[in-house]
Amino acid sequence: MNAPADPPLLELDKVTYRAGKTEILSGVNLRVQTGEWHALIGPNGAGKSTVFDVISGRHRAQTGRVMFNGRDIRGVPPHMIRRRGLSRAFQLSTLFDGLSVVDNLRIAALGAHAMRQASDTLWRRLGSRVDVTGEAERLLALLGLTARRDERVASLAYAQRRLLELGLAFAGDPSLVLLDEPTAGMTHDEARRTITLLRTLALGKTVLIVEHDMHVVFELAEHISVLAQGVVIASGEPQAIRSDREVQRVYAGAFEPSDPSRPSPP
Ligand SMILES: Nc1ncnc2c1ncn2[C@@H]1O[C@H](COP(=O)(O)OP(=O)(O)O)[C@@H](O)[C@H]1O
Ligand SMILES: [Mg+2]
Repeated sequence: MNAPADPPLLELDKVTYRAGKTEILSGVNLRVQTGEWHALIGPNGAGKSTVFDVISGRHRAQTGRVMFNGRDIRGVPPHMIRRRGLSRAFQLSTLFDGLSVVDNLRIAALGAHAMRQASDTLWRRLGSRVDVTGEAERLLALLGLTARRDERVASLAYAQRRLLELGLAFAGDPSLVLLDEPTAGMTHDEARRTITLLRTLALGKTVLIVEHDMHVVFELAEHISVLAQGVVIASGEPQAIRSDREVQRVYAGAFEPSDPSRPSPP
């Protein structure tokens, strides 16, 4: 395993999270280096989405540290974490149906940039420094949605909504993007196109991705961490993960895209 000299962009240190009496995360350690594609894999129910909830501020870890860019963000509200440059893609939860495609992107860009200085007024934010419209147009082009620019989001096809949703996560020039199963529910061809698009969108960014198609994981990821029952049991380069005994035991031969939902053995 490499021992990078740079401090990690994101570091979770002994993070625990309980929901009521249920302990979901039991001391998660995770280091994501600047610029890498880092996959977080593990059986269903391992706690992957909960790790994302804790990183993005949706849940507050009871103990441990969540360091982003050198600062502890545990307990910081989600919108403030977003403005510090850590974003998360959601599935069809954050689109404004009644607004146009371009306005959805503009709002995301504006929200991400807004109030980096608390004293800013809305119009100073709108008028200075940040070219929100230019950024929205650039994302529109990357997403292949320029022709749909002024259509209401409600009129988009499902696949286009999914694309737009991914695009929102890249608005505001985040340094770290969390993607939780971005191709879930897609056909094989749609998933391939989405992965290609994600590569372009994510140029120059750091990505932490939860993905259960192991072909995609081993194609994209430079580093893989494996979560099982609320603990990271292995973390390393893809080849090291593939041959890790404990990982093989937990997956019980399920490193196949055809069987993503296979539960871990007892
Ligand atoms: N609010 C909650 N209360 C109790 N258990 C929960 C809650 N949310 C999630 N869980 C449980 O925590 C475990 C981890 O869930 P999740 O993070 O969604 O796993 P993954 O994304 O790896 O499939 C699951 O067993 C799930 O049932
Ligand atoms: Mg999940």
